Amino acid sequence: MEAAEEAREGAYAPYSKFLVGAALLTKSGKVYTGCNIENASYPAGICAERTAIFKAVSEGEREFEALALVGGRAGEVAPQCAPCGICRQVISEFCPPSFPIILGNEEHFEAYTLDMLLPLSFTKQDL
Ligand code: THU
Repeated sequence: MEAAEEAREGAYAPYSKFLVGAALLTKSGKVYTGCNIENASYPAGICAERTAIFKAVSEGEREFEALALVGGRAGEVAPQCAPCGICRQVISEFCPPSFPIILGNEEHFEAYTLDMLLPLSFTKQDL
């Protein structure tokens, strides 16, 4: 959660003013972080989770232990920021149903599994 909060400081969100940070722990013990990066052409922006996952995958990482996520409006940290649907789908590409996703902040957080957040998912097993 600490790493996610630190990553959140890099968020570029001048349009929504909603800042998000993610920290992804790899099975090899490294932590890849990400923040949301918005764009004047709104759909061109990217969420914090996907920034972290794409950074890790682009560095050759494919196996992950857990993801922590922290978000909220500028100047405050929300009690919980749940991952958006697109990010849940991207997580499901690389992580099993039991993958832990930790939501909250440094003071209070709760772990969910990917399966809880994305039940009945469409994955590479379906192709
Ligand atoms: N956002 C994330 O970074 N992750 C999520 O899962 C939820 C939404 C970002 C995208 C956008 O920059 C801002 O939060 C408001 O939607």
